[in-house]
Amino acid sequence: MVSRTKRIGVLTGGGDCPGLNAVIRAVVKTAQNEYDMDVIGFLDGYEGLIENQYRELSLKDASGILALGGTILGTSNRADPFRFPVLQGEEYIYLDRSSQGIRNYEALGLDAIIAIGGDGTMAASAGMIEKGLPVIGVPKTIDNDLLGTDVTFGFDSALATATDAVDKIHTTAQSHHRVMIIEVMGRYAGWLALYSGLAGGGDIILVPEIPYDIEAICDAVKSRNAQGKNFSIVVMGEGARQMGGEMVVSRIVANSPDAIRLGGISHQVAAQIEGLTNIECRVTILGHLLRGGSPTAYDRILATRFGVEAVHLVAQGKSGQMVGLHGNQMGSVPIEDVAGKQRKIAAANPVLATARSLGICMGVSMEHPIEEFFAEQV
Ligand code: F6P
Repeated sequence: MVSRTKRIGVLTGGGDCPGLNAVIRAVVKTAQNEYDMDVIGFLDGYEGLIENQYRELSLKDASGILALGGTILGTSNRADPFRFPVLQGEEYIYLDRSSQGIRNYEALGLDAIIAIGGDGTMAASAGMIEKGLPVIGVPKTIDNDLLGTDVTFGFDSALATATDAVDKIHTTAQSHHRVMIIEVMGRYAGWLALYSGLAGGGDIILVPEIPYDIEAICDAVKSRNAQGKNFSIVVMGEGARQMGGEMVVSRIVANSPDAIRLGGISHQVAAQIEGLTNIECRVTILGHLLRGGSPTAYDRILATRFGVEAVHLVAQGKSGQMVGLHGNQMGSVPIEDVAGKQRKIAAANPVLATARSLGICMGVSMEHPIEEFFAEQV
């Protein structure tokens, strides 16, 4: 019996980040060079599977894209196959179009889908796997908040951009003797804030996991001024909130699976610090800048390893797994175990302990163990 050439579909879903093209490149090269498989790319995430929008991906298409930011396939964070937005008149209605996705997959003669995305894409994939679609997941996000991998690709590149911004803001903070507040993305997890705050030499770091006490922040600022260091750098996650307070929502994207978009809490902190210390504050919100640009060398290698591993799993006939970095090894975990869950900073996190040892204010009193301040134990 002559065996048929295998055919893989690849898609990129959710918010973009540096390294997506590096995964696509690795998938195409490994599929064609090592296994003689064909690859097609669905456009705009699961939307492409539902609407049957795709393009063939040849080795030529995979050339010259390693260092390119964004995704050559496009992406969408509104394309949940089970709650697919369809414009009716001026209103969106939501339909379960998952079966259409399965029909398109079968008609295209595919053997597997490689879905590159964050928790939204993994949640959609978990549902599609239950309906019989063989999916291998690849974990991406600048937020680094996915379970099942030590790190997601995209995080290191966003961290490099954030650190560069903190470095640049340092000099103007010094010149003007101001408190400079830098707000970074990251949703409900503080990885980007903690790591860029530490890498950029921040004085105060505010993460969503530890609701802040404004008095403790002002004490830290005043104590620096008393030591003659009359400027301070605050690095904070967009999901940070005051003890007993709420996160600041910047917009609701109704037709997105996770409708809430955070942002703007830094303005509240600036007003509070100015009111309580009479020291001038300025705010910089880095926002989508963190998702742009070329991937770092670390992310290029991680993304490449993920893409290669994903194709190995397809070749082994595996399905329902998300690839991950475990130590320095490639591994995989069931997508259903990670879908819809978030990895946040734990009280026992060693990098958090490092920040505390340096005397960095985490928005709470230094006199008590940090565990006492966690919103929830993770
Ligand atoms: O998940 C990545 C992320 O950039 C978050 O850090 C941020 O909260 C969100 O996406 C922004 O989403 P959008 O691109 O819809 O504004």
